[in-house]
Amino acid sequence: MAGQMAGQMASQLQIEFTALKEVGARKGRGAGGTLVVLAGADLALGAETRRILGAGADLVKRAAATAKFKGQSGQSLDILSPAGLSFDRLLVIGTAKKEGAPDFLSLGGAIMGKIDGIAQATLVFDPAETPSDVGRAGADIMLGMKLRAYKFDLYKTKKKDDDEKATSKASDKKHVAIALSDPASAKREAKRADALANGITIARNLVNEPPNVLFPASFAQRAKELQKLGVEVQVLDEKALHKLGFRMLLGVGQGSDHESKVVIMRWNGAKSAKSKPLAFVGKGVCFDTGGISIKPAAGMEDMKGDMAGAACVVGLMHALAARKAKINAIGAIGLVENMPDGKAQRPGDIVTSLSGQTVEIINTDAEGRLVLGDVLWYVQDKYKPQFMVNLATLTGAILVALGTEHAGLFSNNDELSARLTEAGLATGEKIWRMPLGAAYDKLLDSKFADMKHVGGRFAGSITAAQFLQRFVNGVPWAHLDIAGTGMSSPSSDINQSWGSGWGVRLLDRLVSDHYEG
Ligand code: BES
Ligand code: MN
Ligand code: ZN
Repeated sequence: MAGQMAGQMASQLQIEFTALKEVGARKGRGAGGTLVVLAGADLALGAETRRILGAGADLVKRAAATAKFKGQSGQSLDILSPAGLSFDRLLVIGTAKKEGAPDFLSLGGAIMGKIDGIAQATLVFDPAETPSDVGRAGADIMLGMKLRAYKFDLYKTKKKDDDEKATSKASDKKHVAIALSDPASAKREAKRADALANGITIARNLVNEPPNVLFPASFAQRAKELQKLGVEVQVLDEKALHKLGFRMLLGVGQGSDHESKVVIMRWNGAKSAKSKPLAFVGKGVCFDTGGISIKPAAGMEDMKGDMAGAACVVGLMHALAARKAKINAIGAIGLVENMPDGKAQRPGDIVTSLSGQTVEIINTDAEGRLVLGDVLWYVQDKYKPQFMVNLATLTGAILVALGTEHAGLFSNNDELSARLTEAGLATGEKIWRMPLGAAYDKLLDSKFADMKHVGGRFAGSITAAQFLQRFVNGVPWAHLDIAGTGMSSPSSDINQSWGSGWGVRLLDRLVSDHYEG
């Protein structure tokens, strides 16, 4: 099977930091390729940029006038064979924004979008307005570049421009130098950025993989690769799950030829092993046909991404371990395949969950909550976490409510909600809190069991969350419904991939802002 990092990752992309004075100084290496400079409002250039451009600054001015380029963010100016410069191409990128702080992640992504297909580029990171933390900004640019460069082309046997380029291998290699005033601090910050880049790459790969390659056992195998970073990984198979009493989860997978699995990942980074862990729980439905309540054919292939929550948890655990986060964390994922066959669960079945509560099955396509209910109960009972955050592509209704801009947030805890919302604004992985309440909860009353698992046509995302809440046992908890953000979301400066890896940066930020040190 294809390796986790092979191919899909921009492993051919090499980014290094250098000092500004290096640019233009060396005529050999560093000369040629593309020179990228930044321009602020009204074409403001940094002092070092002006020095490097020399007489070329006038060239920029004239070209800008012709192209009506004024340095606005989103605008750029492309000058081929710039006279008087030792570079093949000069790219001027606008950075002026009407309002708000500069977003260096998106800037890095936008630059990478412009230099796609170019083997060598030098970015002069010398904005007219110096950012407060140059190193951090440089590392953000690098992260944005790496995220933008991600491609999932593992199953394409032909490169697009193969006919023209016999040497496509060599042309895939890309070298980018980021020149800035404090390369040493950028290099330090880059460690964290790399941990995130690799974690997000893992999450994206998992979501993009086809369901004949990625099923519960092979998914669990990929999670096991985290052991290399010092993460403890335990895989519970069907026999173990049966013994423990995960009957609600097992019911979902019983129509599939693939064995269901639960994977528990543990990162011990806190000073004390006894420090209560933070817990992250993911829905890992490797393929969701709907089961006996089968889905319509159109677009069903997208349901290979119904494990985006679990993918995020694995990517997050990678990022936390790779940057040696000073916390204890549990990542728990429920891996199943929801298929219809003679052994499949029926509407009307009543199952006993791990919590002991009985559940009447209404619609076998509402399978995610059944998987998560048992995993949430297990995690709070066994690990007594400070909080549980779960991620799930849980309901189509959250797409109706929030589209692809925000993930839905449901929580029993105002502090956790506020922290998550704040981390969402800081990272651009935005979330919007939705209500919970007794009147919604009542919609789950069942004639025959302790509850039914679907509440009816209205408020579908909320009743799904109410169901989950019945399995958290009062622990501070937040549920993120990522059906609109985890897959098939619109392309952005930092993501062109179907599987977005959504949530890794959000939760890494939550951890570092509030729970470390
Ligand atoms: N995996 C789906 C939700 C989904 C829909 C994710 C679209 C991503 C894009 C989930 O298991 C599901 O089928 N939910 C049903 C619930 C219903 C039967 C109560 C839904 O949303 O229609
Ligand atoms: Mn479903
Ligand atoms: Zn599903």
